[in-house]
Amino acid sequence: MDLASLYSKMSKQKWKVLDGIFAHMWDYEFVPSELIAKRANMSPEKVEAILKALSDERLVVNKQLAYFGSTFTFIGLSLYSLWRLVKRNHVSMLGKLMGEGKESVVYNCYSEKYGEAVIKFHRVGYPSFKKVREKRDYGTLHFTVLTVRSARNEYKALRRLYGFVSVPRPHAWEGNAILMELIDAKELFRVRLTNPEDVLEIIIDEVRKMYSRGVVHGDLSQYNILVSEEGIWFIDFPQCVLLEEGEGEGESEKEDEAEELLRRDVENILNYFKRAYGIEKDINTVLEYIKK
Ligand SMILES: Nc1ncnc2c1ncn2[C@@H]1O[C@H](COP(=O)(O)OP(=O)(O)O)[C@@H](O)[C@H]1O
Ligand SMILES: [Mg+2]
Repeated sequence: MDLASLYSKMSKQKWKVLDGIFAHMWDYEFVPSELIAKRANMSPEKVEAILKALSDERLVVNKQLAYFGSTFTFIGLSLYSLWRLVKRNHVSMLGKLMGEGKESVVYNCYSEKYGEAVIKFHRVGYPSFKKVREKRDYGTLHFTVLTVRSARNEYKALRRLYGFVSVPRPHAWEGNAILMELIDAKELFRVRLTNPEDVLEIIIDEVRKMYSRGVVHGDLSQYNILVSEEGIWFIDFPQCVLLEEGEGEGESEKEDEAEELLRRDVENILNYFKRAYGIEKDINTVLEYIKK
């Protein structure tokens, strides 16, 4: 997806229409064109014409229900979120695509406020353009809302941890996009460590600090830890569990989930260090240490 060239083809009216979808997407899977028209201060006919053009560009998917409705595609939502970051002066220039995973697309960017940075566009379970269009009963799943929630959860976790645990500094969140500090490091799995025992100790200590701030990562692995000569960083928090103050000692469902995820996180890390470096540690001892 070439966001920069799509961005340059947008008009003020198109942004207004996307803005109308965003404003109402919490209540409607397919936002009625009438509501978009009201918010954009345009006639419904004009809005529908613009929605059709946006659909040709694969930024939205339209559907004729009892009313004419519209929803974002992943690219449409990302473009709109980028626009909000630009409008708020968080982003000055979009750079090159750094990586594209199943659940995100990460871009390099430049910000006058923060310098070189990255934008992570979240994508939770977004089907392809074709599949959204073909699917008749869209069911209760609502990818747009889920995706924005996932970005929000990651942003909240980074905000809570930054300064206490080694994570990229979060700068801003808009829609499905998070602007954060660019970390110049490689994923753990790409690196051959010369001091694996020390690195494992650091990781365990950081996981312990995270836990004491009420955060369980939930997807910890050699893919979501960045390493360089300067240190290590934890990334990729959309699925994390955030415990509120006072939680963590009772027996709620959320706490059980957190416990389970913590065990799995630690297991993943210990397994990796065993496989890659032959280091063995007892998981129960490590878990006890983390929770102490
Ligand atoms: N702050 C960052 N600085 C540098 N690279 C990053 C940063 N955040 C993400 N990346 C790169 O993008 C990739 C995907 O990001 P990640 O948050 O792990 O999302 P995903 O859910 O797609 O795995 C990472 O593996 C890493 O290479
Ligand atoms: Mg990842």
